[in-house]
Amino acid sequence: MADNAVEIHNLVKTYPRVKAVDDVSFNIEKGEVFGLLGPNGAGKTTTIRMLLTLVQPTSGSIRILGINALSDPGKARHMFGYVPQDVSVDGELTGWENMLMYAKLYDVPRQNREKLIKEALEYLGLSDRANDMVSKYSGGMMRRLEIAQTLVNRPKILFLDEPSIGLDPSARRFIWDHIEKLRREFGTTILITTHDMEEADRLCERIGIMDRGKMVTIGRPAELKSSLGGDIVSISSQTPGFIEKLKELGYSLISDSTNGHIDLVVADGEKQIPNLLASLHAHGIVIETVSLKKPTLDDVFLHFTGARIEQGDSFTQAKQTRRTIRRLS
Ligand SMILES: Nc1ncnc2c1ncn2[C@@H]1O[C@H](COP(=O)(O)OP(=O)(O)OP(=O)(O)O)[C@@H](O)[C@H]1O
Ligand SMILES: [Mg+2]
Repeated sequence: MADNAVEIHNLVKTYPRVKAVDDVSFNIEKGEVFGLLGPNGAGKTTTIRMLLTLVQPTSGSIRILGINALSDPGKARHMFGYVPQDVSVDGELTGWENMLMYAKLYDVPRQNREKLIKEALEYLGLSDRANDMVSKYSGGMMRRLEIAQTLVNRPKILFLDEPSIGLDPSARRFIWDHIEKLRREFGTTILITTHDMEEADRLCERIGIMDRGKMVTIGRPAELKSSLGGDIVSISSQTPGFIEKLKELGYSLISDSTNGHIDLVVADGEKQIPNLLASLHAHGIVIETVSLKKPTLDDVFLHFTGARIEQGDSFTQAKQTRRTIRRLS
């Protein structure tokens, strides 16, 4: 369809021991910021690498702005910019030199290079640091330089793997502002993967949650939150049989209990809490604490995957790599 930048149908990638991507279909509209979320091993990177034409799918189809990416990968690649999760800039070169290397790699015509590099550095607020060694940059500046590099190629679709991982809150917000600006001013279609629910909520117009190779749900953040069907009520009790009683009473538990603490989805929670407490009380259950909140993307993630999202080691790793680059100067 004309308004889709990316169209994926029945995509499968099978490795000898695992079906990394299992019959996944979704579209990304032109100019949309789409977020791919999922626990470790869900198949996000494999999906992105197939889109980037770096991994050959076992079956299925991929169209990038109307181009069949499987039969015409070279043409599709011209549409892309890709910022991998791991640091990709060279600390021993200046910002300008890093940009130049990228521009040459992506065949940016010689006569345009200087102008495009200048503009991209300016766009990401790095002009006055262009001639400094990257090892003197902060983590946030390195990430901005990586995004600036992709701009010399004027990509129609930008793939950002964990765009703000390992950055401090102000650098993170700065990156977010720039991603929003790119979409707004250039209409760039952006696919991000992230472990950061605040980032997903803030940046993404739609989110796809993957789990064990499958796409388990797709929607706008607000739709996904309301798809849970109510408010989140957290209750704790040490009375034996507390959880079973809640199940018997027909409540929808969002997770397994930990230490007598459980989250439930309750329609119209504010009004229903007194009834809930009264019926638990009538069954001899002593409630220790109770609280109510609107569902967050975290709750949505937990509901669909059975796990809270964790940044795991990747956050620390990203931070350390940037520090190492600085130390090596
Ligand atoms: N080259 C490969 N050979 C064999 N198995 C692979 C290969 N690449 C990925 N896998 C497996 O495919 C599954 C999906 O991996 P993938 O890296 O796509 O997940 P992910 O969602 O990106 O996870 P993470 O959040 O940890 O980055 C995992 O079980 C992984 O071990
Ligand atoms: Mg991955």
